Order: sequence, then C-alpha cells, then structure tokens
Amino acid sequence: MNQPAVVDQNVAGSDAPAYVKNRKLIDWVQRIAALTRPDRIEWCDGSEEEYDRLSQQMVDAGTLKRLNPAKRPNSYLACSDPSDVARVEDRTYICSARSEEAGPTNNWIDPKEMRGTLNGLFDGCMRGRTMYVVPFSMGPLGSPIAHIGVELTDSPYVVTNMRIMTRMGSAVYGVLGTDGEFVPCVHSVGAPLRAEQKDVPWPCNDTKYIVHFPESREIWSFGSGYGGNALLGKKCFALRIASTMGRDEGWLAEHMLILGVTSPEGRKYHVAAAFPSACGKTNFAMLIPPHDMSGWKVSTIGDDIAWIKPGRDGRLYAINPEAGYFGVAPGTSEKTNFNAMAMLKENVIFTNVALTDDGDIWWEGMTDTPPAHLIDWQGKDWTPESGTKAAHPNARFTAPAAQCPSIDPDWENPAGVAIDAFIFGGRRSDTVPLVTEARNWREGVYMAATMGSETTAAAAGQQGVVRRDPFAMLPFCGYNMSDYFGHWLKMGERLTQLNAKLPKFFCVNWFRKGADGKFAWPGFGDNMRVLTWMIGRIDGTTNGEEHAFGFSPGYGDIDWGKLDFSHEQFERVISVQDSAWRAELELHDELFKKLAQGLPQELAETKLGIEQRLSA
Ligand code: OXD
Ligand code: MN
Repeated sequence: MNQPAVVDQNVAGSDAPAYVKNRKLIDWVQRIAALTRPDRIEWCDGSEEEYDRLSQQMVDAGTLKRLNPAKRPNSYLACSDPSDVARVEDRTYICSARSEEAGPTNNWIDPKEMRGTLNGLFDGCMRGRTMYVVPFSMGPLGSPIAHIGVELTDSPYVVTNMRIMTRMGSAVYGVLGTDGEFVPCVHSVGAPLRAEQKDVPWPCNDTKYIVHFPESREIWSFGSGYGGNALLGKKCFALRIASTMGRDEGWLAEHMLILGVTSPEGRKYHVAAAFPSACGKTNFAMLIPPHDMSGWKVSTIGDDIAWIKPGRDGRLYAINPEAGYFGVAPGTSEKTNFNAMAMLKENVIFTNVALTDDGDIWWEGMTDTPPAHLIDWQGKDWTPESGTKAAHPNARFTAPAAQCPSIDPDWENPAGVAIDAFIFGGRRSDTVPLVTEARNWREGVYMAATMGSETTAAAAGQQGVVRRDPFAMLPFCGYNMSDYFGHWLKMGERLTQLNAKLPKFFCVNWFRKGADGKFAWPGFGDNMRVLTWMIGRIDGTTNGEEHAFGFSPGYGDIDWGKLDFSHEQFERVISVQDSAWRAELELHDELFKKLAQGLPQELAETKLGIEQRLSA
C-alpha cells in the first residue's frame, strides 16, 4: 500500500519492546502508524494488569459500566452506538486479484481500487488516539493447527475482547520469533474526535469497510467497533482468510462448534456442527442431556469455529481456534443453557444487554418474568410495558472458554480431536426433517451445500426470510463458494484413498413448526435423543429408514426415555413431503444457477438422483 515509510519518532511507544524480534512485524507497525498517525502506540502484553487498566480507562470514558461486583464480579457492560450492532455483510469485501476468485456470493472490489479507498480512510484516522498492537494466536500456542495474527486497533474495547477471545499477549512473540508468519489485521473505529478532543463512548463511523485481501492474507476494518467486524481474529481471520489458507494447504476452516459425547460405557466421540449465526450453536455445544439419559455426557470444545486438518492416520483432527465465547445473550437462561449461565457468573464483557437497578444484567428470555425496571441497551428507562426490547436481539457476552463448566479436557489439546461426524442445520419452519443421515460423503456435501435458513439478528438486514447458507459459510467463505464445494469433495476423495473411517454427515432441523405456529420439537436438552441416534449410526447399532436423500430414524429408533412425544408429533418433525421437496429442489437449482461457474458436476448428479428417488 502507498504508505509514508516513516513514523514520527515523537510518537510515544513507536519503539517495539526488546522482546519483539520479528522485523516484518516491527516495520509493518511503523508503516501503519505513519499512515494512521496515532498519538501513542501501545504494545499489548495480554496481562491482567493491562486488562484492568484498559477496562478502567473505558469506565472513565463512559464506554463500559462496571457491573455490581457482588452480583457479577469483574464484569462490564458496553452499549454500542445504535447503528453498530451486527456484522455488516453488505460492507464486507473479498478483494482477491480476480473477481471470479471471490465468486458471486461475496462482494468484490478490485484490490488496487480498494487499497486506494483504504489509504484515504485510514490516513490520519487514529489522530488523538492510541494504536494498540495486539498479538494473538488462533489455537493453542505452538499447535501445528494454530496460526498467528496481529491486530492494530484504536479500540480498547477490541483489546479487552481479544484477550478473552484469543490467546493474546507477549508469549505470541516467542512463537513468531524473528521471521515467523502472521496475518496482519488493521482496525480503526474511524471516528473523528469531537472538537473538544474527547471521544464519544462508542466511537464508530457511518462509513464501514470490512476488507480481506486473500492473496496477501491481510485484513483491514474501518468504521465499526462491533464484534464480528472488529475482533478480527474471529470471522475475518479464522473463517474468511483461514478458509483460503485451508484451500491452498489442504485443510478446512469452518463455521462449526465442536463437542465431545461420552457414552454410558465410556466411549468418546467428537462431532463438529455448522449452523448459521444465532441458530443455537452455543446451546448445542453446551447441551446437558435430559435426566433419563444421564449416563451420557456432552463436553464443549468450541461453539463457533473449527479448524480441521487431516492427520497421518487419515482421520480429521479439529481444534477450536478461539479461547472464549462471543455468544448471543437473548434467549439464554438456566433452562435453555445452564452451562452458559454458569460460565457468565464473572469476568464477562456484556454488549447491548439491559442493566438492572442493582447493577446486574438482563435480557429477554433470561427469566420468565422481567424485572419491573431496567435501563435498556440504549440507556433509556424500560419497564415491561415499554413495548420495546430491553436488550438488543443480537446482544452478546464475551466469556473465557475455560469458565464453561462443560469444557472438554481436550479443548486445548494442540493435536485436536478426531471428528466422527459433521452435523449441518438451519432454522426451517417446514420441509427439512428433524434429522437425516447422508448416504455418503458426496451426498453429505450436497446436503450441506444446499442448506437454507431463516435469517436472524446476527447480521444487519431483514430477518426471518429463508436464504441458502451453504455450510453456514455464506457470509464467511473467503473465496468462490463453488471452489469451496470442490475443496470439500476433494478432501473426501483424499481421505477415502487413505482408507480411514470417514466422518458421517447429518442434517438437522430443530425449528420445524406445527399448524399452531409453535415449535414442534422441544429442542435444547432433548436434542441429545437425536445425537445418540447419530452415535448409534456411527457405531452401526441403530436403524434408520431410507428415503429420497438419506436415512432418518423411525419412531422406534429414538430413545424417548421419559419424554412424552407421540407418533403423530414425531411425524410432524420427521416427515418428508414430496411436494415440499420438489419445491425445495427448485430452490437448490436457483442456488446452483447462481454458482454455476466452477460448480462441481457431482452436485448436479446428486440432485438428479434425489429427483429420481422422489418420483419413484
Ligand atoms: C457470530 C456470528 O458472532 O456468526 O458467531 O455472527
Ligand atoms: Mn458464528
């Protein structure tokens, strides 16, 4: 980029600490500082002292409120600008050299043009502010599956969130050494200081750009302080850039939770599951089996992202590259996710939830009866009669993974865990059955590629409309979706040649509704009944009934325990209606037309097979 080469030597902190030895990193920090012109540079060490100091600074500036230490020790509430509450997919760009590389589902702008735009936006954008240098590892430090990033940001909120969400701090420099590789991430809230040289509590800019250069593996983010747009280790690096790295290097970066399941006999299995944003990944990852299945145990490895690499034995090994959970708060309660509520007892940053009169937090769904008075996420008085949401529907918590009571003993295993099954699911009121097992890898890829889901508040835009969200990666794939399908198919072929036991593919839908408009499946802990059916299929010990696109359980194949769920109710969640599926296949066609360029032939062939079986 066309940046001035030298930083003003008067800028405090422009010299790197002696323990930073990576020349490329030092030069890059200097170049970005020369462009953005911060008043100070602070090289973050990831210490508790630093976290506390920055948090206090944000409390003083009005960005954070310290919650009542007796109720919620060491926890804070941040309320964002009302315009900065979600990922901005229409402002998110994949600037590969050629537009075909980004494909029809990503926003593409010529990289040269984009670099010009960014140069203009970042020129002097940190004046009056501190630029923080945030070194982080995605994945356990030194794991062969992990990778390093460094984020330069003018947001202390980003620094403290990154300390929870990643392995952040000076130890990363040791792994980087003198010439180690890192993904450079530049972030600015992009807000001009007010005339009196004071920041607003949540600085941001109406102009937003979340930009990825896949070839040089760079990330530039301007104008937003919100999680997915600003914590660049997460969606930008761990999914968009990492998916491109995975394509080039033969591995997978996926929008998947990872969980462990231990059977009553003590056998352990691992599954990775992809659901679109705000469709219950965190709840599923922390599931507690119902009392009548208490011999089974679920343990949590990750709730959002999986990096998956083939091992020498031909099996797929997954790590959670993150170190914390950035979960959707509304709907989370002791009933829906007991483990999450326990995880949130202390050391949490809450964003856009409501404040109670005794200095604690609340959101819709946390308790059956709302408190009589609250301060809502926009700082206004709120009562149950207000007729508005007290918490923003995409309000979040940022919590250390280690605090999760169901955390798996292997969650930091640098070698990862061997995956036995992939689960794909969306939010569909109709058509898609509770659970289906694909007959083979190829049909599993088809299943995942054609996933649809009703949109949620996690992204700005209209909610509740069905959109195709292949592999739950539509907003997160850093390259052409058709090539991504090809990559998955190739991965299957490669593993088949190695004669290893391939993971099975399942598709689930917890969200089917009855004629009364209510959810027809109880969900949450009862999803264990579906999970144990899958485990039985992996072991070859449970039956399934074959239909046009795979196997689903018959009523007698599910362990119903004490759940009162009739044949008729089951029929409502499991049935495959030919007419609905014919209409669904037409929608698959629409997707395939959009993705026609480079679409693997195998997908069209699989679709033809399903059509023939439906007619039969
Ligand atoms: C998330 C998302 O924050 O998918 O995980 O939006
Ligand atoms: Mn997500």
